[in-house]
Amino acid sequence: MNNTINSILNRHSSREFTEQEIRKEDLNLLMKCALQAPSARGIETTNIYCVSNKEQVQMLESLGAKEGKSDPFYHAPVIVIFTGNGGTDHDIRNASAAIENLLIAAESLGIGSCWIHQAVRLFNIESNKEVFFNLGIKENEQVMGAVILGYSPKMNPKTKDESHIHMI
Ligand SMILES: Cc1cc2nc3c(=O)[nH]c(=O)nc-3n(C[C@H](O)[C@H](O)[C@H](O)COP(=O)(O)O)c2cc1C
Repeated sequence: MNNTINSILNRHSSREFTEQEIRKEDLNLLMKCALQAPSARGIETTNIYCVSNKEQVQMLESLGAKEGKSDPFYHAPVIVIFTGNGGTDHDIRNASAAIENLLIAAESLGIGSCWIHQAVRLFNIESNKEVFFNLGIKENEQVMGAVILGYSPKMNPKTKDESHIHMI
């Protein structure tokens, strides 16, 4: 099997992270991989906000605590927020393609990841908006999803139900 297939088949959601930081060069490369995703009619609607600054990460984490819930970002050292600017009605699909690219690229570098839809819910609460705007997200942007990244204890990927595959 080649490296790309291996990364796809070994990808799994990670929700526990060590203190080890991800190198800036690796983060830059991962964001480039996310950006390389396809987009409907080639219109690039997705903005990517890669948050590794500890204070800003804590601000995002605190949004869950405010609700009396555990941290929706699982204390990951890096939170990547994907937004759409309403340029087309494909924003969600464009962002989802970028998110999946990031998950697979992270696996290929031995970095754990998890898609976090909770970020969308948190963004849609009016009193939380300021925390997102402080990252540079603009008023015309909507959060489409987020990914957490960090070094994580190795786990086996979940077994998927192959009855969902229909070969015609
Ligand atoms: C659209 C979407 C939203 C998700 N949102 C969350 C989330 O908010 N929190 C979380 O812990 N996991 C989230 N996940 C991860 C799923 O729980 C995970 O992919 C699923 O359990 C399958 O496990 P696997 O990724 O290890 O194959 C999300 C996944 C997708 C595709």
